[in-house]
Amino acid sequence: MGELADMKTARLTARDIVAMKRDGKRIAALTAYDYTSARMVDAAGVPLILIGDTLGMVVQGEDTTLPVTLDQVIYHARMVSRGSQRAMLIGDMPFMTYQISPEEALRNAARLMIEGKVGAVKIEGGADVAPTVERMVKAGIPVCGHLGFTPQSAHTLGGPRIQAREPAAAMALIADAKALESAGAFAVVLELVPAVVAEATTRRVSIPTIGIGSGPHCDGEIQVFHDLFGLYTDFQPRHTRRYLNVADQISAAARQYVDDVSASTFPGPEQTRDLTAEATEVFVSLLERKLYRESA
Ligand code: KIV
Repeated sequence: MGELADMKTARLTARDIVAMKRDGKRIAALTAYDYTSARMVDAAGVPLILIGDTLGMVVQGEDTTLPVTLDQVIYHARMVSRGSQRAMLIGDMPFMTYQISPEEALRNAARLMIEGKVGAVKIEGGADVAPTVERMVKAGIPVCGHLGFTPQSAHTLGGPRIQAREPAAAMALIADAKALESAGAFAVVLELVPAVVAEATTRRVSIPTIGIGSGPHCDGEIQVFHDLFGLYTDFQPRHTRRYLNVADQISAAARQYVDDVSASTFPGPEQTRDLTAEATEVFVSLLERKLYRESA
């Protein structure tokens, strides 16, 4: 706890994340959705935390990210902001908060930055959203792109599956990454992209590529907190590695808790406060006198 409490450093910015690519430092990014997890992730030295709309699935139990609202991302971002001091925070812009018009995108991104206290926003799409990215960047909003499998288009794409499998689609993905770079995006997530395509994209843009299910050649990697630590057990994406199996441990501990309460072994003496012997004596005599009066 001491290490967590002592940590007071300036927050990283989009420029620092871009500099990591230039300096050949790989970027280990993670999602977080609340104060407690943000504290742990930040203390571990994770430079980039995404308040992702995956919260719809791993926190809310929805089937897709589509029902997540801007207010909900803001609510979670505020908690992550309170729990972290150093990591750069990216707030995900939910479905239909940036697609309708660049004006709406600007207004919603501004809310995410002002109310959610994030340092950047993430939107899905390539050349199609480049004009919106340009407007946002000009207005002072750092933007991270998202290409490959874009979960907000899950219904069109037919669920989570590898994208850019055909050479022409792979070339189009590189063109999209370059369009985002030209529009001023500071980074781009590549989700479920063949490794060779992710590598070629990474070599052709100066901004960091952050992979998820896209092989080892991106400038960094992003994973979902609940996948990495085994908290979300509905399914395990192939691209994740379980560093912990927290769900199993919590279930076993919860069973133990139920057993202890049932057997009256919890709470025990260590969890219990009581009156002093003297005060107990007075208390008991008061109780007895009251009982005597009530029965008289
Ligand atoms: O919402 C999210 O968590 C994401 C990551 C999977 C990149 O977009």
